[in-house]
Amino acid sequence: MSRETSLKVELGAALPATHDAGGAVAVGVFADEPRLPETLDGGLRGLCERVTSEGEFKGEGETTLLIHAPADGGGARRVLLVGLGARAEFDEAAARRAAGSAVRAAASARVRTLDFAVVLGGVEVGRGVRALAEGAHLGLYENGFYQKKDDDESPRLERLRIVGAGEGFGEELEHARVVAESANWARRLADEPGLSLPPREFARRAAEMANEFGLKVESLGVEEVRAKGMGGLLGVGQGSEEEPALIVLRYEPEGASEEDELWAFVGKGITFDTGGISIKHGLDMYEMKSDMAGGAAALGAIRAIAQLKPNRRLVAVVPSAENMPSGKSIKPGDIVRSFAGPTVECVDTDAEGRLVLVDGIAYAKHLGATRVVDLATLTGSIIIALGTHRAGLFSNDDEWAEQVLDASLRAGEPAWRMPVSDDYKKRIESMIADYKNYGGKPDATAAALLLSKFAGETPWVHLDIAGTAWYDSATAYAPKGASGAGVRTLVELVCGEV
Ligand code: BES
Ligand code: MN
Ligand code: ZN
Repeated sequence: MSRETSLKVELGAALPATHDAGGAVAVGVFADEPRLPETLDGGLRGLCERVTSEGEFKGEGETTLLIHAPADGGGARRVLLVGLGARAEFDEAAARRAAGSAVRAAASARVRTLDFAVVLGGVEVGRGVRALAEGAHLGLYENGFYQKKDDDESPRLERLRIVGAGEGFGEELEHARVVAESANWARRLADEPGLSLPPREFARRAAEMANEFGLKVESLGVEEVRAKGMGGLLGVGQGSEEEPALIVLRYEPEGASEEDELWAFVGKGITFDTGGISIKHGLDMYEMKSDMAGGAAALGAIRAIAQLKPNRRLVAVVPSAENMPSGKSIKPGDIVRSFAGPTVECVDTDAEGRLVLVDGIAYAKHLGATRVVDLATLTGSIIIALGTHRAGLFSNDDEWAEQVLDASLRAGEPAWRMPVSDDYKKRIESMIADYKNYGGKPDATAAALLLSKFAGETPWVHLDIAGTAWYDSATAYAPKGASGAGVRTLVELVCGEV
């Protein structure tokens, strides 16, 4: 099974003069002058100056260099140089990446305790500490759950001490731990294969987590989904041997009343997307095991929020199904009646996300949601538009859009606003039903327009995370696979500044 990390992050006033065999010191190095922390002195400064001035280590972001050197007081010490990039560009995101790279390099060198001397440049100290701690917790995520680790008994990175950021900031460290662990919890689900995470198992894991953190579970099984008339969710799920489910978790702050606003996070929960009868082709279909990443993010966010306890009523709604071809599958041209009432022609069974989401959004409103954010690995089209560095943000409400956009930027998961407009309505007009689920390019925009019809007047934001939910290759701070995209944005939206 997986090597669960339980990294302890703390703040320290100075680097230790020596350390034992399991320890190492890390030094943050900028790509331009002054490259080293002013507090660095003695032989360690001389050593770092030599390595950096001779160009062996340039201080570029996401690079590290491990060297062994004699310690001032005798004996050997391991020194990890950690690139911070250009000073002028150093921000919270760079801090997050630097800490991620540092802990991954240290962990692979079997370091148990790391003292990291780092200057936060122009970044506000509390936010910088939070970003470093988040980066460290996120960086240690590994997804080899099904590998036999021969070296399982080898040392793990147990402690990271950040030196040079002052002391205190306990709340920031705790906030970072909760948020990053919840993002890692969501990543774990999105990396899980379709076989071991069908909708009912997804619902069971959500319920297990809810019980651990005191959230209310109001999930619906297939018979309840049928009884409520959620034709979109049922239609997508009908081709599979695995029953669909509607996962619903609630967070109620102490003293909340029914009159208070209720915010909903609605997440696409397709546990595997083959495309159905409009079947996908190509070698990368396996990535579609992560087509529930939006759902995992909605649940991961409420997991963090249950621990941070902000004063805001919340519900996470995750319509979950497996999209499979079979003799029972929904076919191109079939029509479903949605929970809200309107009918949708399913012209392409691979455009399944929007069919389950229209029911999810309508159900959130039925539960009383006054504001909605949905997250979905919805379209290949958004990857063409924005690649893997920005999520597409669509909204029917400028103020709400601005709030979510700001949260995404603060959280280091930047979104980019895209249009929701009836200019594109031809794409969703059906000859035979109220709407259709696919009508050509630009598809991300058409999909969002369809969702907007179900959001109606309720302030709503749709985040198309198809490009950001998955790392196509390993980076210095993350393995290839699920990124946890969306968790940090949602938590930031609700909890804001500590
Ligand atoms: N889950 C996919 C979108 C996706 C693609 C997510 C790549 C992550 C990476 C979605 O259900 C889908 O299949 N979309 C199709 C729709 C089209 C066939 C109408 C697409 O975008 O190709
Ligand atoms: Mn699809
Ligand atoms: Zn899909």
